[in-house]
Amino acid sequence: MITLICLLSYKSKFRKIMALSIVILAAGQGTRMRSRLPKVLHRLAGKTLLEHVVETAAQLPDSHIQVVYGHGGNQVPEQLAQLPVKWVEQAEQLGTGHAMMQAMPGIAPEDQVLVLYGDVPLIKVDTLSSLLEQEGLALLTVELEEAEGYGRIVRNAHGGIERIIEHKDASEQERQISEINTGIMACNATQMSAWLQRLGNDNSQGEYYLTDLIEMAVNEGIDVSSASPQTEAEVMGVNDRSQLAMLERVFQQEQVEALMRDGVTVMDPARLDIRGTVSSGQDVVLDINVILEGKVELGEGVQIGANTFVRNCKIGDGVIIKPHCVLEDAEIGRLSTIGPFARIRPETSLAENVHIGNFVEIKKSSVANNSKINHLSYVGDSEVGQDVNIGAGTITCNYDGAYKHKTIIGDNVFIGSDTQLIAPVTVGNGATIGAGSTITSDAPENELSLSRTKQISLKGWKRPVKKK
Ligand code: UD1
Ligand code: CA
Repeated sequence: MITLICLLSYKSKFRKIMALSIVILAAGQGTRMRSRLPKVLHRLAGKTLLEHVVETAAQLPDSHIQVVYGHGGNQVPEQLAQLPVKWVEQAEQLGTGHAMMQAMPGIAPEDQVLVLYGDVPLIKVDTLSSLLEQEGLALLTVELEEAEGYGRIVRNAHGGIERIIEHKDASEQERQISEINTGIMACNATQMSAWLQRLGNDNSQGEYYLTDLIEMAVNEGIDVSSASPQTEAEVMGVNDRSQLAMLERVFQQEQVEALMRDGVTVMDPARLDIRGTVSSGQDVVLDINVILEGKVELGEGVQIGANTFVRNCKIGDGVIIKPHCVLEDAEIGRLSTIGPFARIRPETSLAENVHIGNFVEIKKSSVANNSKINHLSYVGDSEVGQDVNIGAGTITCNYDGAYKHKTIIGDNVFIGSDTQLIAPVTVGNGATIGAGSTITSDAPENELSLSRTKQISLKGWKRPVKKK
């Protein structure tokens, strides 16, 4: 305990020197999204834009994060309450400089400050690290062929940064500058506070521009340095749905590349979507239009057919999922085969070498080794033993209109086609159920149970004929 306290106090002293205060600006309206949802709650690869930024920021050592929110009321902090950040409200959006002013009370004077944006989701931690290594006031800038709308970096004859001129305030000549301000910047907190206090809003938008700090730094003889990202996409903001779609593609491509490096064959990298985290063994093959969502674990040699959706599943070695399947919150044991056209619903667990065929739905059930449910069946709230064969069109009638009930099927059971098992019901080990049966009470071990009305045939019966 004493060591722990020592460690903690050591750590807090250490923080005083090293701490990094990250401020993510996310209060803007995002008019061009044309949405009721605040912009930063829109999703990229299944995750909100703001979560992407927070996850990247959180990788920087010794940092704490504040998010400035505003437009759309409390929706952002309410929906993302789980994030490890401090929420700061900017009630009125009076500009990026004004947004920063709201966050300053939460920042210690000796901290280094890093400004990020909730709508710039693909920024990389390596880029931020290189920015943080710069001296003085550090700006992340990039050369763009199409610089319309961005603040331009004005440099002097020696190449030193002098100021940033916003597009709306720029002259024709200044608009020719292709180096732009990404908005991402870092500097010392004491200096930033001092500069923010002197900020005015005398410009075309009547806003407090964070970018005006650069000129102040230059006038005080503070170094203004710059760094650049590896790719343009890292600093692209999402202002409309078209940009959102574009960045989604960039991100998907990056993820697919990583999977391929891990030994996964992707039939068409443009037609695989990952909205979560995927781990995979070697020699996995993913056919076109596969969507992997949440946490997906793929064993070695797994094959997933076209148009299949998998969310939060653990899929064992050698499993083959044929085209057009939907699997959610399930565990599929090694060497099993699923589909085509199968639906595996939550809380399903299939053991090894289980065969699930076409138009089969399994819900909240376990199926033991080597069992087969090959055609047109519904199995819900059930425990199915090993070496079981469930015939075509078998239904577990698990719901009586008010309650759900369990069906227990022992090992080595054979269930004839078109059987209804009225739960709660147990079919004993080795039992056989005759095709077409409605089983309302337990079927004993090793016996044949069936319920059928006796077949009759009517001699001389004639089919009705239409009168002419
Ligand atoms: C800003 C920069 C510009 C840069 C561009 C990069 C300024 C004055 N200009 O311009 O130099 O090229 O970003 O995209 O900083 N925000 C708030 N509160 C506010 C205003 C904005 O939180 O009061 C947030 C927005 O949610 C957004 C970000 O700050 O995430 C940028 O604001 P925006 O109004 O889009 O700035 P730009 O005009 O694009
Ligand atoms: Ca913007």
